[in-house]
Amino acid sequence: MCGIVGYVGREKVKDLLVDGLSRLEYRGYDSAGFALYPKDDTANFVVRRCVGVVAELRKATQDVGQTETQGIAHTRWATHGVPNEVNAHPHLTGLTVLVHNGIIENHAHLRSAFQEQGVAFHSQTDTEVFARLIESNREWHVQKEKEASGKDFLDLPTERKRDIVLEALRQSMRQVDGHYAILFMVKGLPGYLFGVQSGAPMVVGRTPHGSLIASDLHALIRHTREVSFVPHGAIVEASAEGYRYIDPASGKASTPKFETINWSAQEVEKEGYEHFMLKEIHQQPLVVADTLSGRLPQEAGDPFIWDHPKAHEVLWKNCKKVYLVACGTAYYAAMVGKYFLERWARIPVEVDLASEFRYRSPILEPGTVLGVISQSGETADTLAALRLANEMGVTTFSVCNVPGSTIMRESSFQYPTKAGPEIGVASTKAFTAQLVVLAALAQDIARLRGFKADPAPFARLPHDMEQILARAQSYMDLGARLADKKTILFVGRGAMYPLALEGALKLKEISYRHAEGYAAGELKHGPIALVDERLATIVLGPSDDLLPKTLSNLEEIRSRKGYIIGIGEESNKNFKALCDEYIGMPATDWALAPLLYVLPLQLISYGLAKHLECDIDKPRNLAKSVTVE
Ligand code: M6R
Repeated sequence: MCGIVGYVGREKVKDLLVDGLSRLEYRGYDSAGFALYPKDDTANFVVRRCVGVVAELRKATQDVGQTETQGIAHTRWATHGVPNEVNAHPHLTGLTVLVHNGIIENHAHLRSAFQEQGVAFHSQTDTEVFARLIESNREWHVQKEKEASGKDFLDLPTERKRDIVLEALRQSMRQVDGHYAILFMVKGLPGYLFGVQSGAPMVVGRTPHGSLIASDLHALIRHTREVSFVPHGAIVEASAEGYRYIDPASGKASTPKFETINWSAQEVEKEGYEHFMLKEIHQQPLVVADTLSGRLPQEAGDPFIWDHPKAHEVLWKNCKKVYLVACGTAYYAAMVGKYFLERWARIPVEVDLASEFRYRSPILEPGTVLGVISQSGETADTLAALRLANEMGVTTFSVCNVPGSTIMRESSFQYPTKAGPEIGVASTKAFTAQLVVLAALAQDIARLRGFKADPAPFARLPHDMEQILARAQSYMDLGARLADKKTILFVGRGAMYPLALEGALKLKEISYRHAEGYAAGELKHGPIALVDERLATIVLGPSDDLLPKTLSNLEEIRSRKGYIIGIGEESNKNFKALCDEYIGMPATDWALAPLLYVLPLQLISYGLAKHLECDIDKPRNLAKSVTVE
């Protein structure tokens, strides 16, 4: 969704901001812009905005920003008002120029109140309303000041101006409803940026030359790994010298605590791959190894190593039921997790979409543990589900990829994935990392509850994944051959059912072709009506006890002239003989099969999308992290 970057310091700011925006492109956006604080304080803010990509903004603004060292920038994913230049951020109102991520729910009411006073708005955005509110509160304080001291805003000492702005901001925060992050500068107050994190993430970075603020780590890690996540509800004030966090209720200031993030700048580069998605697919063996690193038990019967071993043990020994809640790909990981937990640890598991869970008055009985799964750790619905569970008093845990993210911070237990930055909008390596954490967790819970656990097959995973990825080109070619199919059906049973759903989601997302995922046993209940020679079915069939049943379903498709692509064990000649095309996989444990079978699925989608010349890393209409409902 929208992305924010800001900087104040000694470096030239324009390129730094535009580079920062390009690191946030993956979040999804339709317009971009920046505002620079002029070197000469008598001049106006330099504001530039454009519809389209950051590269356009860079091209269109080559002539500006050679001297300025302070500014704010934004990528906009339209919510209120169509994507056009007028609605693009920053919004300049009076002395205030502001960028915003999130939604101001009472913006219409505020707008009409201003309009009744004769205020005109230029854009259709809720952002401009917020800027106007801060500005009008600032003007009110300035008027009071004038009555007392006779001085106008610009004549006041810096500290007084700063305090007036902070007062106006605190007042405005009490008047708006919604969840948002904002960043703004005020003319006449050079050297300061002001922001608020109220439900949309914000992180600040400490560099030797100045202070950086952004919506997420990706925009910062080229400059620093010393970061602090702005606490929910806090105001942040930045100057070249550092930061203050201010509690809006009391006005009390504190100094942020910084932590070192273990991500390298290299990780946000394509490193020779044509797309981030392709790089991320190929990173999966390493991601699995990193996620498991230091956690695997020495021998069968030994515990997995978690960050909070004692509390982990108590939690899972007493757990009666698990709820797994997530969105999109993470939801499919949760579905696979249900198979792991029920089969190994014998705990009943319910899986729910976060957007449904949060509005359904869920029943969370004592002894229930609720886990949320999220790559970004900022997905609005998932976060709301977590908060609801916390309010209802059940213990929560997260399987999350972004260190310091809101979901990670607000869950009682953390089982982190170590996938590193995932930039491609279509989730790949985060999914496999989620599966591996859920599998390890389920094995460990099984051990704690006295059931058989055998972590041995985990050690082979990276090797088997490498083997599969060595044939990446052939899977991509197969994907390209699907271009003339009207629909692609993905089917599987057991843990392959959620994988079928994930395969279909990936294909839809990046190739814009119609795809459906189905439990193989459900075909006869409807979707088989779709079958003709223009329908391709990808049959996920590892050699487990369910395969004979899956093969019967395959026969039904075959007899109706459907085109069949089988993915099964290399040695399974019978399965292969029933297919038009066949992808051979290494033999594996039932539970680890999803981690291997997902690889050709990702590459088939990638190959088709590439053949169709789609924008693979930034598919139309999608945002990487869905931070609004
Ligand atoms: O960051 P999250 O894992 O919470 O995101 C959840 C979904 O938005 C995400 O998985 C989405 O479905 C992906 N684009 C799928 O590839």
